[in-house]
Amino acid sequence: MRKPLLAGNWKMNTISQESVKLAIDLKNLVAEVNDRDILVCPPFTAISQVADTLRDSVVMVGGQDMFWEDKGAFTGEVSGGMLKSVGATYVIIGHSERRQFFGETDATVNKKLNAAHKHGLLPIVCVGETLAEREGNKTLQVIETQIKGSLNGLPKEQMGKTVVAYEPVWAIGTGKTASPEQAQEVHAFIRKLIVELFDQATADEVRILYGGSVTPDNIKILMSQADIDGGLVGGASLKADNFAKIVKY
Ligand code: 13P
Repeated sequence: MRKPLLAGNWKMNTISQESVKLAIDLKNLVAEVNDRDILVCPPFTAISQVADTLRDSVVMVGGQDMFWEDKGAFTGEVSGGMLKSVGATYVIIGHSERRQFFGETDATVNKKLNAAHKHGLLPIVCVGETLAEREGNKTLQVIETQIKGSLNGLPKEQMGKTVVAYEPVWAIGTGKTASPEQAQEVHAFIRKLIVELFDQATADEVRILYGGSVTPDNIKILMSQADIDGGLVGGASLKADNFAKIVKY
């Protein structure tokens, strides 16, 4: 069975000292957990310190983005090798905030996904519709385009090591969570697409996370859905006790 993955996306929050304190508090609160994977994705500036802080803990560390080239004249960018070198094992790719504010497209997501695998990082690829798309009954169509574009040409073995996150844009940071049924419908649809693009065994292996206003109060019901294998948590991951409650749902 798929091991649940609870991931915190700290976004552009925590200066150096805050990130270490959050990591220490979380590490202590979840020390006994062993039946699920726990991940935090601090801003680039804090990854090294957070990874050092969490070295002997059950909590893993990831990046929030990466560039597809290994090195060179790409001012401001960070490569997969750089993330690995400071202790990251996962990387979020194609978060809706990057699609919305920084010009990320399915094509750039695809390049980053390939680069992440090349560096041995486990990618979490994000997809999700806007409110206008949902209200226009375009949700599944949008998800299909994003999934097909993002996963295009990926070798099967790499798909098995890829995590997908469904994050409806209208649910991010708004306090409006998708209902368990709404989320399950899209998660099942994503798994069906993975069957079509790859095969059943691969689709059975892939973890599909839900993201968008996940809290300690709604995680349990979300996790009770057949195709929801974890959560990608923004705001509620910035408080150690809240995130620990989510981890221990
Ligand atoms: P919130 O949990 O703050 O809604 O953010 C979700 C998210 O975007 C995680 O990547």
